[in-house]
Amino acid sequence: MTFFIPEEKVLEIQNAADIIDIVSESVLLKRAGKNHVGLCPFHSEKTPSFTVNPEKQIFYCFGCTAGGNVFSFLMKHEGISFPEAARALARRYGIELPTGNISAAQKRVMSEREQILVANKHAVDCFSHALLSDSAGRKGLKYLSERGITGNTLERFGIGYAPEGWSNLMHHLARKGVPKKLLEKSGLVIENKQKNVFYDRFRNRIMFPIFNTGDQVIGFGGRVLDDSLPKYLNSPETPVYNKSRSLYGLNVTKQKCREKGLAFIVEGYMDLLALWQNGIENVVATLGTSLTSEHVRVLKGYAEKVILVYDSDDAGLKAAARSISIFDSGHLDSMILVLPEGYDPDSYVFEFGAEAFMKNAEKAIGPVDFLMESAIKKYGLSVEGKVRIVSAMKEHLAEIQDSVARSLYIKKMAEKLGIDDSAIMEKVRRAMNTKRSGSNAKSLLRREPGASDKRHKAWNGSATPTESYQMEKKIIAMMLQFPQVLSEIRRQEILSFFENGGLKKIGISILEHKGDSNRMVSDLIAIIDIPQERQLVASLAIEEGRWDIEGCLKLINKQFMASIKRKPSDLWMKIKEAEAQNDQEQLELLMQRLKDRKKIQNKLKFAGGKAL
Ligand code: UTP
Ligand code: MN
Repeated sequence: MTFFIPEEKVLEIQNAADIIDIVSESVLLKRAGKNHVGLCPFHSEKTPSFTVNPEKQIFYCFGCTAGGNVFSFLMKHEGISFPEAARALARRYGIELPTGNISAAQKRVMSEREQILVANKHAVDCFSHALLSDSAGRKGLKYLSERGITGNTLERFGIGYAPEGWSNLMHHLARKGVPKKLLEKSGLVIENKQKNVFYDRFRNRIMFPIFNTGDQVIGFGGRVLDDSLPKYLNSPETPVYNKSRSLYGLNVTKQKCREKGLAFIVEGYMDLLALWQNGIENVVATLGTSLTSEHVRVLKGYAEKVILVYDSDDAGLKAAARSISIFDSGHLDSMILVLPEGYDPDSYVFEFGAEAFMKNAEKAIGPVDFLMESAIKKYGLSVEGKVRIVSAMKEHLAEIQDSVARSLYIKKMAEKLGIDDSAIMEKVRRAMNTKRSGSNAKSLLRREPGASDKRHKAWNGSATPTESYQMEKKIIAMMLQFPQVLSEIRRQEILSFFENGGLKKIGISILEHKGDSNRMVSDLIAIIDIPQERQLVASLAIEEGRWDIEGCLKLINKQFMASIKRKPSDLWMKIKEAEAQNDQEQLELLMQRLKDRKKIQNKLKFAGGKAL
């Protein structure tokens, strides 16, 4: 797993990294006792069940059961491999890793993702050299300065220029040792299969690199310098570039979004740069695609509220309609701002300045209000108009999950239109019913047991957690949270009585752990390969348990050992079942268990209940 990151380096990284720091970059955390809690970035929720424990350096979500240490957090959150996560952390904490002379063999092992990131980095260097230090880039600089972009902005956002010609970048990447096979995968080079030739995707364009929040280049957008089409050319989706979750500029602006608790969402590269340069630094761009629920999930790590800025009523309307359900399920407050006719954020802020823009922003309203006002504008307040307004609004109102919010909007609308709210309520309810029966049909189709259910079942050994499983879990939780008890567990060989193989294995790893006990949980998580086991360890370690030695001994002796003594005879039932089905293998297994149990019970009898 850590092929060319030496073990001691992994340890060094783990010691240097602080999980609160790392998680805070993408999740708003609040202190709650020993833990920090926030809205889970892995599923959508309204009340925080995502929990991070700084002492143990682990996280766990009580809602979706995602859990792990700082490495697993990054892996899951960024969708990257272990070495990539380790590298990202090393970079961040200034730990040097031996990367300079990677051998050919190591290069083969380096993941495709990592190689694409390396290629992209070389591309940024190449484009920015062309813009700033090469005569070929002069017309690019001229264009950018005519659009008011300063040198500081160019530098901060890594903007460059792809000169004319079919193979400038391709040659540059070849010189840097990027394998040919990777050129096309990175999206930087296009293959013409018929002619069997390769050529640069981006030619004679201003180049805007797109970064992830870890400052790695994941893709590019390139703009022509004149009116030719297409105006912008973008990287295709690649293993590192996922359009529906990437937000342009966030790597630069995330701090400001945090500080203000608010992010402006604009559509274009130039819109973002213009606002940023004019001092409105809490801004991200969706790059022409409409906002997705994944964007919202990312954003809610940096802001509590967003203002979507659009350049036309029509675009604003579409966004408002979509954003009701996206933001409702994402639990992020959203407002819609439409700029005066004929302006986009870029042209507006350069013509009227930041102050005027912010004045406009004060007029931003929520999506439901926005839709309502637009409907009133469109249909007017005649009797017929009102009927149409209600009819247009009922679907939108039915999207609102929160019943209190929904009825407040209905009231407000009733007042505005001067009609009885029960009439509107009735229409909305009907719209909700048709919607619900539609989605019920969908969920019935999804009923088959998922692969993950099956895996989970196999690992637990049984579908319903038995009493002994619960008890064993409790003991593991105790071992994880209260290491003082470990010597007693060892002395009484408690683990030898465990029925659940997975829990037993975890228990053994705990007893075998050496070194700082504060790091135990995080160390364990690092060596466990099975995700379910990893999550279980995190969940058991992070649960709020109050342990003292007396309580622990009571759990071991009075509850656990006693339960073993009076084990129910379910074993006999299982034996009969196996006999009936002529399942020899299972039968042998069960007979062995029966023998073990007899041995245990004798041992307990021998102890004369003294220890109990
Ligand atoms: P716009 O057409 O509004 O362009 O597209 P713009 O941002 O105002 O660009 P300038 O000011 O003329 O330079 C908004 C965004 O949609 C995407 C780009 O991300 C652009 O910034 N887009 C637009 C494309 O991807 N391809 C296109 O051909 C056009
Ligand atoms: Mn523009």
